[in-house]
Amino acid sequence: MRWGRIFAVVGGCLIGCSSPRRESVTPVVARSAIEVPISDPYEYGIDRISRDAGKAIFTRTGVGDPYRTGVPYPIFLALLEAFPRTFGADTQALAGKFGFVARAANPKSEDLDEREGLPIGMHLTIDPITNVPFVVTNCALCHAERIRWNGGAATVIGLGNKRVRIHAYDAAFAEITHERGFSAQHLARLAAMQAEARHLAWPERYRDILVGGTVAALDKRATERTPLRERTEHGLPGRVATIESFVLVLGQLTGRAISYAPQVGWAKVPDVIGFAHRVTLSWDGSGEGPMDLLAVEADVAAGVRVEWMQHHPFQGASLGAYLRQPESRPGFPGKIDRALAERGHKLFEDNCSHCHGTYAADGRALDYDEQVVKLEDIGTDASRTEAATDSFERAANDPALTLGYTKFRRTFGYVPPVLTNVWARAPFGHAGQWPSLAVLATPPAQRPTNIVVDLDALYDLTTVGVATRATGEPGTYTQDATSPGFSVAGHPFLADLGATDSRAVIEYLKTL
Ligand code: HEC
Ligand code: HEC
Repeated sequence: MRWGRIFAVVGGCLIGCSSPRRESVTPVVARSAIEVPISDPYEYGIDRISRDAGKAIFTRTGVGDPYRTGVPYPIFLALLEAFPRTFGADTQALAGKFGFVARAANPKSEDLDEREGLPIGMHLTIDPITNVPFVVTNCALCHAERIRWNGGAATVIGLGNKRVRIHAYDAAFAEITHERGFSAQHLARLAAMQAEARHLAWPERYRDILVGGTVAALDKRATERTPLRERTEHGLPGRVATIESFVLVLGQLTGRAISYAPQVGWAKVPDVIGFAHRVTLSWDGSGEGPMDLLAVEADVAAGVRVEWMQHHPFQGASLGAYLRQPESRPGFPGKIDRALAERGHKLFEDNCSHCHGTYAADGRALDYDEQVVKLEDIGTDASRTEAATDSFERAANDPALTLGYTKFRRTFGYVPPVLTNVWARAPFGHAGQWPSLAVLATPPAQRPTNIVVDLDALYDLTTVGVATRATGEPGTYTQDATSPGFSVAGHPFLADLGATDSRAVIEYLKTL
């Protein structure tokens, strides 16, 4: 299984939301079909599997089922207006607060998302039943990054967003439920004004059910997710507690009690460029199953109905087609010493390729075999691989949920990432624990343990990584590498080569 997408549901089960039950997936679907109609906007219709359709899902529409995964846009705007300190007063401020990649509003654009200036990763889809635009999220909310360096910048779709603060965004929707302005009447009034000012469809006959449904769903969600929020409140940007985020949903879907591990298993949002070379798909090797099924499976747990999946059978395969043929990426923008890189290439093949594979001159992986490297051999922070408990593993393998197609197993290790375009991906490691390749090339015992990262600064082309500072200043965050989840330990392989040879290997990595 893959876990990142759980946060696609902010409103979650907006209309006719009913309480979690013990039955397996199939009866739940049959019953919710009666309770909640499916809103199936035209744009989600895919008549054949294609890379373009996958690209549209990834960068625009998301997987869908807007009543389950979206928020009516007039209500969304009302929330921003009512709680500007929590959300930011407009979509630009919202993007800044939660690390989404901002897009300036362009009133002349044909595209509603651009006209409204929604951040990358958010999209307005028109519900054919009410005509109301719903804000939904897509994969690029987390898997897209604006990278800036001395002399240039690029928005790279697929690269992990290192600023995104998805747990803080989730917490914001809980926080407001305790505030005075959080009432259906107040929000209904603001939503009506927002809809009028922006000429958005907001039909009288649906207003009450949409506002009432949203308020009820947010209240319920806030209560249910308290334990998760408490565990994740000090999370760093770009990191997601993926396993923990699934505990609640998995518990609801299977009716089992699922425990949390003692430490949070933080994962940074990874670059999806490795997808093409995976067999089991799962980023940590814990999920096994048909790739295209795994590509959408997480969305079922995120609120998307199995019935929706059945109506849209080509979504997973289309996403797979897109991920297997990613767009070309900007190469390393600094100088590369070609002779040194050539020497590094040889060193890489001798010392690194048996784990990380071999690469063509343009950085494409030629020969990469997915494998799990056990903790005792890699020595990196254990929290992520220990995050799934026994009860979690049992529930994740509940046949009613997996229908026998997919399997979850705890690996107690990590999968060596595909290193195509690796220069752009800092901070490195499964939790983003190493700020730069320079730190990875430092012997583990000598690596810094108190790391101040400045995400507003330009990408550091010298250390090949995120910019770090001596002391915390506004706009920075501090990684305490002595706390579980963010240790800089392990993976001594680059450092073991010594200063001269590791420099050559880094020069080679810049060419990928
Ligand atoms: C809330 C942020 C978020 C969103 C939205 C999101 N992901 Fe992810 N994604 C993650 C995280 C975090 C991981 C690491 C998973 C883990 O910890 O097991 C991940 C892992 C992945 C991987 C594995 C990468 C590899 O090397 O194999 C793929 C592929 C992927 N996501 C695709 C998608 C697709 C497709 C969507 C949209 C339908 C999506 N993601 C939406 C956060 C997100
Ligand atoms: C024994 C297998 C193994 C060997 C040998 C190995 N690595 Fe790794 N490498 C891994 C694993 C596993 C990870 C992920 C570890 C983690 O995140 O905890 C990793 C992570 C990395 C990363 C971070 C990638 C990212 O996506 O953030 C880089 C860069 C890297 N390795 C480079 C190298 C280089 C260069 C060499 C050779 C000098 C090398 N590795 C040798 C297994 C290996």
